[in-house]
Formats: sequence, structure tokens, C-alpha cells
Amino acid sequence: MPAFYGKLVRMIKVNSLSKAYGGTTVVDNLDFEVKPGIVTGFLGPNGAGKSTTMRMIVGLDTPTSGSALIDGKRYADFDRPLTKVGTLLDAKWVHPNRSAVNHLRWIAAANGFSRKRVDEVLDIVGLSNVAGRKAGKFSLGMGQRLGLAAALLGDPEVLILDEPVNGLDPEGIRWVRDFVRQLAHEGRTVLISSHLLSEMAQTADHLVVIGKGKLVADQSVHEFIKSSSETTTIVRSEHLAEMENALREEAVNFERTKDVEGRDILVVPDHDTDWVGGLAYTYGLRLNELSQKSASLEEAFMQQTGHSVEYQAKTAGVGEPGMPATPSTAAPGAPAAGAENRIEKGE
Ligand SMILES: Nc1ncnc2c1ncn2[C@@H]1O[C@H](COP(=O)(O)OP(=O)(O)OP(=O)(O)O)[C@@H](O)[C@H]1O
Ligand SMILES: [Mg+2]
Repeated sequence: MPAFYGKLVRMIKVNSLSKAYGGTTVVDNLDFEVKPGIVTGFLGPNGAGKSTTMRMIVGLDTPTSGSALIDGKRYADFDRPLTKVGTLLDAKWVHPNRSAVNHLRWIAAANGFSRKRVDEVLDIVGLSNVAGRKAGKFSLGMGQRLGLAAALLGDPEVLILDEPVNGLDPEGIRWVRDFVRQLAHEGRTVLISSHLLSEMAQTADHLVVIGKGKLVADQSVHEFIKSSSETTTIVRSEHLAEMENALREEAVNFERTKDVEGRDILVVPDHDTDWVGGLAYTYGLRLNELSQKSASLEEAFMQQTGHSVEYQAKTAGVGEPGMPATPSTAAPGAPAAGAENRIEKGE
């Protein structure tokens, strides 16, 4: 367990933070905290201001107003900032002809870290065997691992990772997920941004969601989904016609549709399983399925940022309940544009 475990502060605090470029406000009066011991996901559509906010936290951009402090101090005021904050803002920022180990060695030398620590972080991220290879020849996943190794050199209490899973394959995504969860479990403060919203649901404990530079939500993943989802119940039965009649008797709206296996189901909005189950019992109808449809993080996200999405998703219907996630224009067998739950720039 790291020596810093148990210290009271290790917190990022963003206070009334704003940034304008040429008169356009891209970060708009943001207030949030990032706490230790959990993974905080930083979500927002393209251009929402995530990277700009992260850059301001580590002093690479100057706020137009407000402040971003780590344990009450500006990043620039730390004597040895890499021992306090590890950052991965752009994993491609590596000299292509330099080997992985030499890339880390010069950062280590410049910051007074030992060569032994370089070997340690290479081992932690699983790059020891390829440490002598030119970083420019690395795959995307290896490059992200190298970026994480650099972030970990100073054994920092705080980690700020901008899109660390961008472009990774499922194995790489899982590795990053397990890795950041472990770092948080050790008591570190972890802020991680991503477009892979379903991935965030599995990685983060808490979400800070922004749209067009403004705070949209600051709550646990569970609360975020719950507050955005309607209570919709799914019913499958051999007595669907009778169930429809019962619902009509009660003047309750419903929709008849098919589930993924092509079986007829009823979708009953605004009523929970207790109520629908009770109705079925009253009418003596045997049910084969009675389940609650909870909104995916994508749906919750679109619902909460719907009015602040600068670039709309290409895929029509992503996040609209009842609409297929697969675009109708997709070639047979082609992956759906929304398959990775990406919100893409509509360019
Ligand atoms: N140096 C800059 N000069 C002018 N505009 C900028 C600059 N950097 C960012 N912006 C603008 O600020 C807005 C926010 O950009 P930012 O990169 O912070 O968004 P983001 O949420 O990280 O988006 P993405 O998901 O695409 O990475 C965008 O409209 C972008 O064009
Ligand atoms: Mg960004």
C-alpha cells in the first residue's frame, strides 16, 4: 500500500473554472471535486471541454477565470509535480525514434527518479519485453501503456488520464479498466475521460458529465442512470392479448414489440414491475418474463446532454428508446456506428 494512503487530502477541486478562446467560452463556470479512492469518469460529447479542463488542472492552459487546485495548490506550485500528479494527456507525445526505456529514462532523469523505477513501471504496464523497441513502432495499445508508465513514474497520488482507452481493442480496454480501478483502490485520486460510455459505466464509480463546457451531472454512475431513466417494464407472456386488454382497462399506455429473440413482448412505460405484476395477478395471467428496462449509460447521457451536444451523433436514434442502435444505412455485417457507443463528431 502506498505511503500516502490515509492522508486526508488528495483532492482535485475545480472552482468556477472558465476558459474562452477568442471570445468563445469552451469551459463555462465548472465546479466539481474529484475524490480519492474511487475512479471518477469525466464524460462529455466531442468538444465539450474535457481536455481543456484537464489541461487547466495541470497548468497547460490558463483559466480565463476560476481555479483548478490539487490539495489546495496549483499544479505549478508543487516542487516535484510528477510525484503528486501523473498525467496522460496525449499518448502519442513520444519521440518516434527513441526506445520506450529511453523515453522513460529521460523523464526520470529530468525529475530525479531512479533507473530502477523506470524498470518497475515498465513491468507494471507489461512493456518490459519490448522496452528496447522504438516507441514510434508501437501499436496504439502499447503507446497507451507507455503513456501510463510515464504517468506512474513518480508514484503519484493523483492520476489524470485523457481518453486512455481511445482506440484500444477489448483486451486493452479491459486492462486499462482493471488497472485504473486498482490504482483507485490503492487510495489514489483518478480522473479519467472517455467516449466509451458503456466502458465508463464499468470503470467509474462517479461521473462528472459536461456538455458545451457546462456541468450536466456530478453523481454516482448508478444515480446518473437512475435519474435519467424512466421506469419501463417489459412483459412477455403466452397471454399477451389478455394482458393488452387488462392494460387498456386500466387506461395504461403500452407498446407491442419483439425482443432480441423475436418473441412478442409488451413495453409498458411509467409503470414498475410491482404494478404490472400485480395487474397480471389480478387478471390471472401467467407471465414468462417481467423485467425492468433500465436506461443504458448512452441513453442517460443523451437524455442529460441532449441540449448541449455540440456535434450530434452520426447514428440516428442512438439513445432514443425504441430506435435500433444499428443505422439503417450500415452494410450487412458492418459494425454499427454506435457499436462502441462512441459519440462521433458530425463532420
Ligand atoms: N487552443 C485552442 N484554441 C481554440 N479553440 C480551442 C483550443 N483548444 C480547444 N478548443 C475548442 O474548445 C472546445 C473544447 O475542446 P476540448 O478539446 O476541450 O473538448 P473535448 O471535450 O476534450 O473534446 P473531444 O471529446 O473531442 O476530445 C472545442 O470547441 C475546441 O475546438
Ligand atoms: Mg479531448
